[in-house]
Amino acid sequence: MTDAKAHVIDLIFGRWRSQTLYAGVELGVFDIIGDYPKHAVEIADQLDINREQGYRLFRALASLDLLQESSDRRFSITPAGELLQEDHPDSLQGIALLEEGPTHYATWSHLPAIVREGEPDGFQREFGHSVFDHLEENPDYAARFNESMSSLSQLESDWVKLLLRTVDVSEFGHICDVGGGHGHLLCTLLQDAPRVEGTVLELPSVVKDEDQHYHESMGLSNRVDFVAGDFFEEVPTADAYLMKHILHDWSDAECVEILSTVREAAPDDARLFVCELVVPGPDQSHLSKLFDIHMMVSGTGKERTEAEYAELFEKAGFEHAETHQTDEIPMAIVEEIAT
Ligand SMILES: C[S@@+](CC[C@H](N)C(=O)[O-])C[C@H]1O[C@@H](n2cnc3c(N)ncnc32)[C@H](O)[C@@H]1O
Repeated sequence: MTDAKAHVIDLIFGRWRSQTLYAGVELGVFDIIGDYPKHAVEIADQLDINREQGYRLFRALASLDLLQESSDRRFSITPAGELLQEDHPDSLQGIALLEEGPTHYATWSHLPAIVREGEPDGFQREFGHSVFDHLEENPDYAARFNESMSSLSQLESDWVKLLLRTVDVSEFGHICDVGGGHGHLLCTLLQDAPRVEGTVLELPSVVKDEDQHYHESMGLSNRVDFVAGDFFEEVPTADAYLMKHILHDWSDAECVEILSTVREAAPDDARLFVCELVVPGPDQSHLSKLFDIHMMVSGTGKERTEAEYAELFEKAGFEHAETHQTDEIPMAIVEEIAT
């Protein structure tokens, strides 16, 4: 087979891999298999699933290097499989459940029509409302979405720390994370800056999820608070603002509205750190170019080039300070100054 043919076949069958992985997570396979080999029948019975179909699923998961199979139908977990366990410190379970679960699966099926007609949004087409209305109306989906954001945050908070290593966070008195989810990023940054205080601005439904907020478990309840609000209306005053994966959810006009709300609250010289997958030039294959399709499917948003971001910031009254990026991390942080 030519390299090109092997490449295309690999792409065509990509969904088989992610759906097999998803089934393993959804059924709880990774949470009950440990280091010592366990027989397929025992696993199937413990999960209350069909023994023969279960064995075939475990075998496929082993062929994806998520489990290891021995000759007598016994299975143990691999380091990759451990990342799909619920209690792993870097668990990717939430993302697997969200991205390959039935809701997103259904929205992706609209992609050809979205591109043909130039009218975005698989959520509108499938459910008749936006992703954020879907979150408000479906507590189970909201739980999955927020859990996924948090599990991704654990990886991304480390990226942000690395990208901001030249910025002295402790020089800010108060940092606001606009749309900061359960607060993982803000708490991670504040752990290294003992005098800085922080506020997470979030939708009421996320602020209500108190048991999932990070400030208590990370020992920051006295310095971090959660405020329910709408970033199209008002954000708290702060010396620095974080916005991670916020602007990519919205159209250019909506982004200017959100940024203008931040600018209104921000004192002159306040900093804004926008963490996004910035789209590089045509010579580079990059996660942002696929993530952009995900944004097309899930709402009015998109991934943008540095120049496209610059235009939005200028319209809202910010001046570019610096772009923090490295070749190893797909995310970049665009630092802006309120002028
Ligand atoms: C893609 S998530 C990013 C969450 C977090 N910054 C992170 O990177 O994990 C977008 C967040 O924006 C919040 N959000 C959406 N609309 C909002 C609004 N109008 N006001 C405040 N927060 C909003 C959502 O609840 C969600 O947590």
